[in-house]
Amino acid sequence: MSRAFSTGAELKEALREQDYIADDEFAVVVHLATVLGRPLLLEGPAGVGKTELAKSLAAIAGRKLVRLQCYEGLDDNRALYEWDYAKQLLHVQMLRDRIGDQVAEFDSVADASKFLADQDFGLYSENFLSVRPLLEAILSPEPVVLLVDEVDRTEESMEALLLEILAEQQITIPEVGTFVARSQPWVILTSNDTRELSPALKRRCLHYHLGYPTSEREREIVTARATEVDPATAAEVVELARILRDLPLRKSPSISEVIDAARAATILAAGGLGTTSESKVRDILLTALLKYSSDVTLAKQRFDGKIPEVSSGRGEPIERATVASKPANTTTAVFRGTGGRDSDQQGIRSGSGLRSTR
Ligand SMILES: Nc1ncnc2c1ncn2[C@@H]1O[C@H](COP(=O)(O)OP(=O)(O)OP(=O)(O)O)[C@@H](O)[C@H]1O
Ligand SMILES: [Mg+2]
Repeated sequence: MSRAFSTGAELKEALREQDYIADDEFAVVVHLATVLGRPLLLEGPAGVGKTELAKSLAAIAGRKLVRLQCYEGLDDNRALYEWDYAKQLLHVQMLRDRIGDQVAEFDSVADASKFLADQDFGLYSENFLSVRPLLEAILSPEPVVLLVDEVDRTEESMEALLLEILAEQQITIPEVGTFVARSQPWVILTSNDTRELSPALKRRCLHYHLGYPTSEREREIVTARATEVDPATAAEVVELARILRDLPLRKSPSISEVIDAARAATILAAGGLGTTSESKVRDILLTALLKYSSDVTLAKQRFDGKIPEVSSGRGEPIERATVASKPANTTTAVFRGTGGRDSDQQGIRSGSGLRSTR
């Protein structure tokens, strides 16, 4: 039995129980999409919880998650349906003797051929369809959550195919006819913004840009997803990620990478690295947070104080980049650029996260 939600706040609470932490506005938008029965298009950078939202929504509503993972070259056969030729062949073989007897009655091949052409062997019916995700969502008697993931990876022709489903909740198969949805799916589409989606597709969806979370929400996410991480460690790693995201990196750290780094920090702290300096620990954490060596170089320059101010790309300096110039006297000092003053800092204290010992 599928569960419905009467308010955004109720939905937000249910998501939280699944360890999905949404802010108020996002929860209201998701709730509206479910009530209005409109597809929800989520755009935003990698790893901000777009796919996870669909999974969590399915879990809290008690609906099956039907997922269509998009990629370049995705076609109808993978997205919609395919005729099951093997099954059709088997069916014809089983009818063969019967058909053979009937065909034998005709004197000419032309008449036999005409007779066969007029027959309906039932080969093009629902029974012989191999159902793919889009059709599965439409045919399901129980309402599902349909996730069309990374829709920007497909060609525009694929978007055209989606339009009928999104607008009419139906699919037309030329040989059979139109299948109208047997239950109303909740549809979530995600995009990484790698190309502009067609206006026609956007028009049919509620559109929401999911960005990086506030520090407060990200701390909550980290401790919800990695229960072994203590709040202080979570706060420090989140702060490190926040500073990194202000740099013009090739790839900013995603939430999942921040969770990994927080886990790593906890393990390092528990292992008691002894004399390992805090900046060394920070460098180790960069391996979880950054995926390009040029980004690592940039981050290190930033922490060494060689990049005092970074442009946001919008022509304005980023205020956060100046954090490095503040005195390193808070619990997050370890992750802030201390201009090579780390050699006199103590290593991680066992079990205490990554707090500065000063
Ligand atoms: N709001 C959130 N609450 C709890 N966990 C979250 C949240 N957002 C992200 N996460 C964590 O981050 C991970 C990555 O999220 P997800 O796979 O949904 O990202 P995405 O936006 O779909 O990224 P991509 O565009 O790369 O597919 C999740 O598995 C989850 O652990
Ligand atoms: Mg995803």
